[in-house]
Amino acid sequence: MQQATREATPAAVGAETVIILDFGAQYAQLIARRVREAHVYSEILPFDTPWAEIETRKPGAFILTGGPESCIAPGAPHLPKEILESGKPILGICYGMQELARICGGRVSPGTTSEYGKADLKVKAADSQLFDGVSDLTQAWMSHTDTVTELPAGFVPLASTAHCALAAVGDPERRIYGVQFHPEVMHTTAGRVVLDNFLRRIAGLRDRWEMSSFATRAIAEIRQQVGDARVICALSGGVDSAVAATLVSRAIGDRLTCIFVDHGLLREREAEEVVEAFRDVMHLDVIAVDARTRFLEALSGVSDPEEKRKIIGREFIAVFEERARAIPGVEFLVQGTLYPDVIESKTAGSKSGAKIKTHHNVGGLPDRMALRLVEPLRLLFKDEVRALGRELGLPETIVGRQPFPGPGLAVRVLGAITEERLTVLRRADAIAREEIQRGASPEPWQYFAVLTPIQSVGVMGDGRTYADLIAIRAVTSDDGMTADWARLPYEVLQKISTRIVNEVPGVNRVVYDITSKPPATIEWE
Ligand code: XMP
Repeated sequence: MQQATREATPAAVGAETVIILDFGAQYAQLIARRVREAHVYSEILPFDTPWAEIETRKPGAFILTGGPESCIAPGAPHLPKEILESGKPILGICYGMQELARICGGRVSPGTTSEYGKADLKVKAADSQLFDGVSDLTQAWMSHTDTVTELPAGFVPLASTAHCALAAVGDPERRIYGVQFHPEVMHTTAGRVVLDNFLRRIAGLRDRWEMSSFATRAIAEIRQQVGDARVICALSGGVDSAVAATLVSRAIGDRLTCIFVDHGLLREREAEEVVEAFRDVMHLDVIAVDARTRFLEALSGVSDPEEKRKIIGREFIAVFEERARAIPGVEFLVQGTLYPDVIESKTAGSKSGAKIKTHHNVGGLPDRMALRLVEPLRLLFKDEVRALGRELGLPETIVGRQPFPGPGLAVRVLGAITEERLTVLRRADAIAREEIQRGASPEPWQYFAVLTPIQSVGVMGDGRTYADLIAIRAVTSDDGMTADWARLPYEVLQKISTRIVNEVPGVNRVVYDITSKPPATIEWE
């Protein structure tokens, strides 16, 4: 449904694109992010995307990703001939390099052992443009079994490791290069330099991908898409919907109405802060709906996390729809869909990537109300959305906000949800966040308190207590897909524990979660 409204040619880009052809890599998104960090626009497409579709994106260069297959095995994914025939510069990474070597007439041999992890990379051709500025001996991250054993005509060896004689190769004449190592991962010391050399020196890409020019183009694009119609947006307080709404409001002013549903599952003072930020700082037209009682009643007696999520999703859509229907002439709904969700739906069915979590949004509503979608962030990664938010002047409280689940504190109050239990969690959570902000540097990626369904014995003053257990979760992560527990200073943990037990009635014990993801998840639910 969302696919139908997405444009094939992103007018908001207006730049040459580096097309990353995905052969089923674990790291395709990381490659795209690294290219964009070098201020070059990139998009990921499945390796077998028809040339006609690729052409609409003004490809300036190609990067071929790694992949789990062997390019010499039957049924392996192969590079379409138009890519080579295009004459554009190509960089093959891992599988991408092997496939390039094979298709250009070289030899790829099955390995008997795999080379995995960090390796010393010896740069043989210091004068090669690809390794310009890289020292002769540097560290690279390898992960392969097959190797290129014979070079195609026109290619020269550029670098090697102890186990891989041809760890980087190139045909400078045709501007085709291959690296067996992974320049996109941080363990490859010179990875950024190698990518930058490919993009700027070899491919000669000049356009700079910046959020300031993106904003100007995106605003013009929204005006064109929406015409004179009215638009609605569900504000959650999260960065995505905030940035999306701000862009749309810059484009069409007061023809945008935002609806903020307070489901009563937000953190301490959060609802007020969100409404203040949007109304008073961003001057958006916001309808704030106090639906706290309605949600609490619907959740009454429910302990199962999936059931909680379903109820909240259902009630959210119902409340939003009631309000939206009262606004005449609405034709569009703004959604803060990000690029990883778009890639996910594009590559669904291919072997690449892990399933991204299904997010809580107003799914189902566009169909029911015959609304079309405005998705101004559909080409952006999360860090780009934050940069864009800053560019648009959004307050740091919104732009730097931690990820927060749509179902809110419902997934952090384990067991039945009552107003009393929410109050206990809100207090404990506010204390934990305050102490972590004050005493932990750098701040972990995400941190919060969880109210467990466990009660245990304690002693306070002269009396025995039997009260609630609060758990503290603080993690480091890049994207929430994997995470490690944050090594918080003991003093911070001690302060959190003392303050929670002293200041929050009904809590007599605090524990710290020291589990990584996997095997645990970040939220306890
Ligand atoms: P888990 O618990 O799966 O969470 O390790 C990974 C990240 O996703 C956040 N999260 C959500 N975000 N809607 C969201 O927008 C949701 O329903 C949701 N559930 C979990 C979680 O806080 C963590 O950052």
